[in-house]
This record gives sequence, structure tokens and C-alpha cells, in this order.
Amino acid sequence: MCGIVGYIGDKQAIPFLLDGMSKLEYRGYDSAGVAVYNKGKICIEKCVGRLEALKQKLKGNMPEGTMGIGHTRWATHGRPSDVNSHPHADSSGEFVVVHNGIIENYLGLKQDLQAKGHTFLSETDTEVVAHLMSEYYTGDFEDTVKKVLGMIEGSYSLVFMCAKEPGKLICTKKSNPLVIGLGNGENFIASDIPAIIAKTRRTFIMSDGEIATVTKDNVWVQDINGTPISKKIFEVNWNAEAAEKGGFEHFMLKEIYEQPKAMRDTMLGRLAKTNDAVVFSELNWTPEELKGINKIFIVACGTAYHAGVVGKYYIEQMARISVEVDIASEFRYRLPIIDGNCLCIVISQSGETIDTLEALKEAKRLGARTLAVTNVVGSSIAREADQVVYTYAGPEIAVASTKAYTTQLLIMLLLSMYIAQLRNTVTVDRLQELIVGIREIPEQIHKMLENVEQIKIFATKYGSSEDAFFLGRSLDYAVALEGALKLKEISYIHAEAYAAGELKHGTLALIVEGVPVIVLATQPDVYEKTISNLQEVKARDAVVIGIGMEGDKKLAQHADHVIYIPKTDKYLAPLEAVLPLQLLAYYAALTRGCDVDKPRNLAKSVTVE
Ligand code: G6P
Repeated sequence: MCGIVGYIGDKQAIPFLLDGMSKLEYRGYDSAGVAVYNKGKICIEKCVGRLEALKQKLKGNMPEGTMGIGHTRWATHGRPSDVNSHPHADSSGEFVVVHNGIIENYLGLKQDLQAKGHTFLSETDTEVVAHLMSEYYTGDFEDTVKKVLGMIEGSYSLVFMCAKEPGKLICTKKSNPLVIGLGNGENFIASDIPAIIAKTRRTFIMSDGEIATVTKDNVWVQDINGTPISKKIFEVNWNAEAAEKGGFEHFMLKEIYEQPKAMRDTMLGRLAKTNDAVVFSELNWTPEELKGINKIFIVACGTAYHAGVVGKYYIEQMARISVEVDIASEFRYRLPIIDGNCLCIVISQSGETIDTLEALKEAKRLGARTLAVTNVVGSSIAREADQVVYTYAGPEIAVASTKAYTTQLLIMLLLSMYIAQLRNTVTVDRLQELIVGIREIPEQIHKMLENVEQIKIFATKYGSSEDAFFLGRSLDYAVALEGALKLKEISYIHAEAYAAGELKHGTLALIVEGVPVIVLATQPDVYEKTISNLQEVKARDAVVIGIGMEGDKKLAQHADHVIYIPKTDKYLAPLEAVLPLQLLAYYAALTRGCDVDKPRNLAKSVTVE
């Protein structure tokens, strides 16, 4: 989520650090900072805002030094602010660190350190790592890093500096990217290739658990036990623009492929190790408080609204509270009947959509309790709501939302399980079943993404259609809404989603020979009825692409084509069933030569009503 750079060599570090950070800023960051070593001391300069703000701060006051680290922050723990910006140091200023990811157990570690007399300046999880380094320093920098790695849990890429042992940077990673660039008499570290390709094209990618000690002439890689690891060097042959997209043709495709990681990050720390409970340490609801809530409103726009529709099914079915889902621009003006016994959940990737923000204010004005589900820490919506739950999808750049949507679905599922848990409307066995299934989702999505040939073929075959229909019942209907929106947004094919049972009340008139109809059939409770609706469109000579669970032979018998998702729980199916729909939209848009990342007339963040 954050951008990391590191330099060690004979030249001044800051110019490279700033240039490297500017190559990572395309992802939209909220604060930036650098640290350089000079004459026994590490100097840190950092501030909130875009990189430009840091550049202004450094103008005429450029710290000297030939070893340094830099960071552009995308806030996760602690809002964007000067003190929360990286790099972070221990109290002596001798141990400095930059971090990308989430330290899951930071609160416990922080309390232990505070008991030992450490004082903290920031609200971040990262600062804990710098303090751990000083608390457990063994007299050997490498050893201490290994020791600290044994204490922290979560996902990270980390670069360490130590004033006691200059001349080396140490870096490591787990579930977050980190690359090393090799130069002559200088070496580079970065979270992403674009940061270093102006300097070198000779790189290697760090793998999880590897620890690299980087000096100006050498890079030495080992595992936590000290076993040396030899790395394969490769020459980057992408141009700068392709590098920003990580080698993918479009940001949208890159973000589709980032979904396993986005899911992992979002579930991190929220599933009990014993698999029998959902944990939201950021929420302080008690069962008594929840008893007072007799209605939930979910309010959002666009894709986030579709995540809300899925959320309604989850909450009503599991937590047994009545839920209304509203489009934010409608909610505000429909005089909703809402009061202190209601909870209003707003969902917004950006946290800045004006309609959603105003709806949130209206719900507050009417006395409702409010909760925001957003991807951007410190955003207007996050600040306005009583409580916030973050999705950890990382920055989303493509206008068409993909990874934000799937993480929103995951949060809605976890929230409904959490509420059900507090209200005693779900058994521990059921919770366990779901949690085990949730843990498998990232890997299942990863596998689906390895095999997209069939979807490309369908997209090419039906990409010239002018209309398409998406049908489903129950949760499948909710996902169908998002499938149709994706296709409309980026391929400009007219697409409509219908509750499958509703089709015969009008829209069936539009079903003619050859029209592609995507039928989602993943929900066991309504499966037979969905198959009947499928037959209704088949009888009008539509081309039916069925989306069902692996092993569903019946669907294959009735549909013209079938795309299978891995077998999973009915509540988890939406998280997987949307994948083929995102990819169908993407490849259909490619076939039609559309500008995938910047579709006509649309904007990523809509701050006008
Ligand atoms: C715009 C974007 C959509 C997004 C919607 C809501 O229309 O193009 O992709 O779903 O805004 O945005 P939010 O940031 O509030 O989720």
C-alpha cells in the first residue's frame, strides 16, 4: 500500500529517494518522508501531504548522506499526519524503519514496550518495530532484525537503518512486495520496480521470509535461520509506464489480480486464531448496545452500493436485523424514517463521495448511529462517522472498482458474522465453518486468476453484442448487479441485471436470439428456481453463460457455456462469482478497443452532487 525506497552508495541519497518516491506517487499517497545517515546520526524529515510538500520542506535544507530510506504513505493505522508519516524511529533515534503493510499484533507489543518505559509519538503500528529494535538490540544489527521478526505478526515489507552500524540497510518482507536494484558501487531497494528503473534494470525480487543486507558493493540474502539464499537476477525490460502497472496492460487488470492480497490484508487480525469468532478491535459495541438497534440502513453509491446489497442479505440472514439499502443520492431526499435505534452503515472506497458523505451527515442529524466502511484512512467519510472499519485493498486507480468491491463484500460478511455473534443468532459451528472457508478464499481466487483463457474467449465472442443481461436470485442477484455495472462502465455494452424471477414481468420481451445472458447459479436455496428461469431465456434462443460451482453438471446441461468457481459456502460464493464478471467486462472492453482505466464520462472519485 505504501511506497518504499532505499539507497546506499557514494552519491547523495536524497535526490534518488525523492525521484524514486515520485515514481510511486501515481498510487495517490497522503504523506511522505526520508531518513539519511550522516556522521553517526540519522536525520528524518517527513510531512503530511503529497510528495511536493516534502520537497518544499527540504528546499535549501537537504540533509546530506549517502545512505537513506524514503516512504510515501497510504495510511492504515493512524490518520495521515506529520507524526504518523514514516520513517519512524525509536526514542534514541538510532533505529529507523519504513514499513509497508500491517503489523497485526502491534497493540500488544506496544503495551509491553510502554510497560518497559518506551514512549510513542505516533498512532502507527510501524513505530513499534523501531522501538522493538532498540529494546532487543543484541549488539548485532542483523541478529536484532531476526529477533524482531520473530515477534511481529502480519504483513510487511520493512527497511531498517541503524546508526550504530552504518554502511548497511537491512530489508525483509512478508506478503508485501520488495525489490532490490543492483548498481555499480551503489544498490537500491524499492517496493515497486518503477522507483528504480531510472537507475538500474538489474534487479531481483525478494520472497517472503528473506532478509537482505544491502551494502554499497554487496547484497547478501539469508533466511531467519541464517541460511544463505542465492537470488536469480533479472533484467527489467518494461518501460516506465508498464512498470507502474506492474507489467499488466491496465491498472484494472492489475487490481483484479491484487484481489487475493487485498482479501488477505482485509481479513488480517479479524478472524480469531481458534476460528470461532470474528474480531473487530476497532468497534466497541456491546451486546446491550446492539440490542437497541432494530434497523440497519446501508447507504452508498455505484459499486459500493452493490456491496451494500450483498450486505443486506448477509445481515438479515445471519444477524436477523431488518436492513434497507439505499442509493446515497436518493436516501437524503426521501425523508427516511430513521432514529437513534437505527444504525446507518455507509460504504465508500474513496471516503470522499459527496452523496455518501451528505447521506451520512443526514443520518447523524436524524440521530442514527453511524459506521463507515472505507478504503481511505482519514478520508472525510471516515472522519464524519461515529465508527470506522477499513478495507485494506490498497490504492485503487482504475475507475472501475474491483478489489475495493471484493474487500467491501468481505467486510460486510465479517460485520454480519460479528453482529450475529453478539446477538447470538449464529452457532459457533456455523461461524467456524465460515471462517475456515474465508481463509481459503484468497488462494481460491488466485487459482481462478491463473486460468482465464475461457473467459477471454467468451469476451471476444460476445464482445460485439450491444446488449447483455445478468440474472440471479438472492445473493446471485446482488452480484449480477455488479456484473452488469462493470460491463456497462468499461465496454459500453448496454447491460442489465435482473432478479431472475422478475424477468418474466417485462424484460423477457427483450430476450431475442443470440443475446448473451449471464446466469449466476451459486445459491443452493434458490438453485432449482434459477434453472427454471435459465430455461425461460434459453427457450427464447438467448446464449446462456452459466456461472456455478465446480461439479454442477446440471448447469452445464442447460447453459450454452459454463464458468465454474471453486466449491464454497453459499455466503462466500459472491466473493468468487464476481471474478469472472470483472474479467468478462475487462476483456470485452479490450475487444471493443475501449479505454479501460478511464472510461468515457466517468470519474474515480465523484465529489459533486
Ligand atoms: C464513482 C466510481 C465508482 C464508485 C462510486 C462510489 O462512480 O466510478 O467506481 O463505485 O463512485 O465511489 P466510492 O469511492 O464512494 O466507493
